[in-house]
Amino acid sequence: MIGIDSNILIFAHNNVSRYYNEANRLIHSVVEKDLLGVSEISLREFYAVITDGRKVDKPLTPENASILVKTYFQSKRVVVCQLTSEAWGKAFEYLVRYRISRYDLDDLLIALTLWLNGVGTVYTRNTKDFKKFDFIEAINPFAVSSPSSKPHAPSYVIPYARQSIDEQDVAAVCSVLRSDWLTTGPKVEQFEQAVADYVNAKHAVAVSSGTAALHAAMFALGVGPGDEVIVPPMTFAATANCVLYQGGTPVFADVEADTLLIDPAQVETNITAKTKAIIGVDYAGQPCDWDALREIADRHKLYLVDDGCHSLGAEYKGKKIGTLTDFTVFSFHPVKHITTGEGGMITTDDEDLANRMRLFRNHGITSDFRDREIRGSWFYEMASLGYNYRLTDIQCALGLSQLKKLPDFLTRRREIAKIYNGTFDELEGISPLSVRDDVLHAYHLYVVRVSTDKCQCDRAQIFKELRENGIGVNVHYIPVYLHPYYRKHFGTRPGCCPIAEKAYEEIISLPMFAGMTDDDVKEVINLLVKSFC
Ligand SMILES: Cc1ncc(COP(=O)(O)O)c(C=O)c1O
Repeated sequence: MIGIDSNILIFAHNNVSRYYNEANRLIHSVVEKDLLGVSEISLREFYAVITDGRKVDKPLTPENASILVKTYFQSKRVVVCQLTSEAWGKAFEYLVRYRISRYDLDDLLIALTLWLNGVGTVYTRNTKDFKKFDFIEAINPFAVSSPSSKPHAPSYVIPYARQSIDEQDVAAVCSVLRSDWLTTGPKVEQFEQAVADYVNAKHAVAVSSGTAALHAAMFALGVGPGDEVIVPPMTFAATANCVLYQGGTPVFADVEADTLLIDPAQVETNITAKTKAIIGVDYAGQPCDWDALREIADRHKLYLVDDGCHSLGAEYKGKKIGTLTDFTVFSFHPVKHITTGEGGMITTDDEDLANRMRLFRNHGITSDFRDREIRGSWFYEMASLGYNYRLTDIQCALGLSQLKKLPDFLTRRREIAKIYNGTFDELEGISPLSVRDDVLHAYHLYVVRVSTDKCQCDRAQIFKELRENGIGVNVHYIPVYLHPYYRKHFGTRPGCCPIAEKAYEEIISLPMFAGMTDDDVKEVINLLVKSFC
């Protein structure tokens, strides 16, 4: 069975005349095994593709396969791709080398096709566990083969994002390693205070990731079964998952076409008697229209949460992100503005809510290990059900050191955006997202929309070409409700948020990180322009 981070089902085999039997067998095994996205494809639709596939008298390549997709599905849910006998040979070689059973052969071929189409990471499951199909990257059936060619994974010359770590960061971490407190120590409070000061919030609560921060926020607000929380679809799944963790229901409100930020008008239409909160995401680093969202939240007596995982350092109407909502949530994953390896923070002006989250991140226990050491006491009580979501002193020391450099990091990100804007503003077919006048963008991501009306290529081709040339482009995001988990458990399907779905077909995130040189930026621009024309 194959799992992928996309709603694409790929059907691959080497012989056009075998389409019917193979399709029949595959689709049933796929349905039985609940493969991604298959609920969207009726048997009739699937056979239609297969039937038309038979009329194709030349071998299918990834390129003409994607034309098939466009013609029959107006989306990229199914790609048919023929593999050459040479590819089969290589596949068998790997099957033997990696001791993969014959049973998994079709999976391997599907995986190959996925990889060739640049769909994303491919996983295989034998019986219980998902295991990464590492070796897939070594098999390219369309490449000119050489028996001695070594398997290699693509390593990007310019990744889409990357942390900037210097010797001061290393020294800060090492000094904690030599100290008494690796966790629950003084660095945690220092980092919390530094972030609170930076965003001008009264409280900051450090947790182990942005996801944990969102979860803690939902807990503190008392979200539970029967509650609905309005979220945008154009975000990382964690924004909606945090509602599920608490037994609530995420409700998706579409985004605005020009900014991809949650549309306040759509929020309003989705409010019901069950709505408890609204989560906005400062997509790519641009703040949402928080005044409009605040007005709606106040009128309906709802909590307002800012998923600011993209927007540390951004400003809305002259005010830093961090205090505009009941909670603001940050992530310190390495692709973000500053990193602690993994890590997150919630800022709030509400002391009660902050205290609830401090309990939550520490098993629901009223004191931590260091408090008890200081008091010379062993006694503690678990007051509510919590988790171990603590951020260590090692991570907080890194965070403190990184935070000092945040202003420089932000300046550099804005310079890079300016160079990109300067080029794309003049170029037909590649459009940066709009930036509103009343914000200061933090540029976690630099997203462009490609309109391929006037040229022969599509987004998938541009993406593939850039990756092949060492540019680590990405796509943010698959609308959350199209993930197989959501489809399966909530019956969500295409059509729910058309603006986000259309955007998903056209967007590419270009490399954006503080360590990029001007030459890196020019290289990305040159290759993008080349692949587009
Ligand atoms: C918008 C958004 N929310 C939440 C998260 C989750 O953060 P983390 O990876 O730190 O758990 C991310 C991470 O990429 C994100 O981009």
